[in-house]
Formats: sequence, C-alpha cells, structure tokens
Amino acid sequence: VNVKSSDVQWHQASVSHDERTQANGHKGAVLWFTGLSGSGKSTIANAVDRLLHDKGCKTYVLDGDNVRHGLNGDLGFSDEDRVENIRRIGEVAKLFVDAGLLVSTAFISPFSADRKMVRDLLGAGQFIEIFIDTPLDVCEQRDPKGLYKKARAGEIKHFTGIDSAYEAPGSPEVHVNTAEQSVQQCAEQVVDYLAQQGLLS
Ligand code: PPS
Repeated sequence: VNVKSSDVQWHQASVSHDERTQANGHKGAVLWFTGLSGSGKSTIANAVDRLLHDKGCKTYVLDGDNVRHGLNGDLGFSDEDRVENIRRIGEVAKLFVDAGLLVSTAFISPFSADRKMVRDLLGAGQFIEIFIDTPLDVCEQRDPKGLYKKARAGEIKHFTGIDSAYEAPGSPEVHVNTAEQSVQQCAEQVVDYLAQQGLLS
C-alpha cells in the first residue's frame, strides 16, 4: 500500500461490506469494458447499466465524460498519463465496489499491465474484463467524433490504434463481437455472463 504518511490509517466502517451486499441483494463488482475509440464501449456499458438497473441492481457508470473532465482533467494521452488515468479509475471503481455497486467502466485502457493492475487491486471475482472487440477499420469507418480522420492527418498525436498501441485482452471474461451483434444483444451477452456467475443474486 502506497501511503504517503505513516500517520494515515484505514478507518473501520460502521456498516460492513457484507451488510451492504445483503441490503443490495447482490455483490459489488467492476465490469471493465475495454476497446478501441469508437468500438462501442460507452454505448454497450450504458445498455448493460440500463438492463441491470431495471433488474433492481445498484449500479453506476464511469466513463470519459465524467472522469476525464473532472477527476482526471489534468491528464492527457501520453503513455504515462494513460497509466495514471487507469490507476485512478481503478481506485475509484474499488470504492464503488466497496459500496456494493456493479460499476461499469468504459475506458480504452490500452495496456494489459494496467488492466492487470486493476484486476489485482480488486481481487478474484470482482473484476470482469469485457473486451469490446471492434476491428480498427470498423471504428475508423464509424469515426463518430471525427478523431481518426484528425489522427490520420497528424492533427492528433498518440491516437490509439494509429500511433499508440492497443493491447487486446488475451483471456477476457466476456468477449463481445460488435460486428455480428446489435447493441442490445451485446448487452444481453454481458448480463447473461453475470447471471451465470451468480453475480446478480
Ligand atoms: S485511455 O487510453 O484509457 O486513457 O483513454 P480514455 O480515458 O478512455 O479516453 C479515450 C477518449 O478520449 C478521446 N481521445 C483519444 N483517445 C485515444 N487516443 C488519443 N490520443 C485521444 N485523444 C482524445 C477519444 O474520444 C476517446 O473516446 P472513446 O469513447 O474511447 O471514443
């Protein structure tokens, strides 16, 4: 544990994690969506969140819009900043899991080592890696924000898939093929996995 001051101690909570789990009717976990820009991470994470919420689960979504504009507003897209981005998101996600929530995170998270760092931080069964597998050419064709076009023109440097690496997960818990399924089918595939694992009851 990287505590800056030895005077800082972890405070024992008066409501235990088990009590929260019982009250919610399910365990907490991180649904870690990873994939290229424009792969559909945010869209599918939000569709999953809707399905889980409608089932009565306690949920939350963390994605670029609510994190890179606030908590991580000081970070850019160098390798170093991406590592720090994922480290902070991992720590925040851990707090949400401690609160008993099913938290969906939608970040490119391009480096395997960083995803493993968060997996290790969360512990067994609490980190579900969901690979939103959309080929680069499909993402580039969609180009919803026009960023690939800018990256190809050299107007954006270090763009994932163009001049910055994306390390695809080797053995994700869920491998979602967006080219062959609708958003709804992709979301149901994730929820089915969670149900099979007993995470929804
Ligand atoms: S990372 O790699 O996990 O730290 O990235 P993330 O926090 O998910 O942010 C990705 C979104 O930022 C926009 N953007 C870029 N992406 C990749 N590379 C570069 N250089 C870049 N610059 C800006 C882009 O819109 C990403 O959004 P998504 O939702 O993934 O398309």
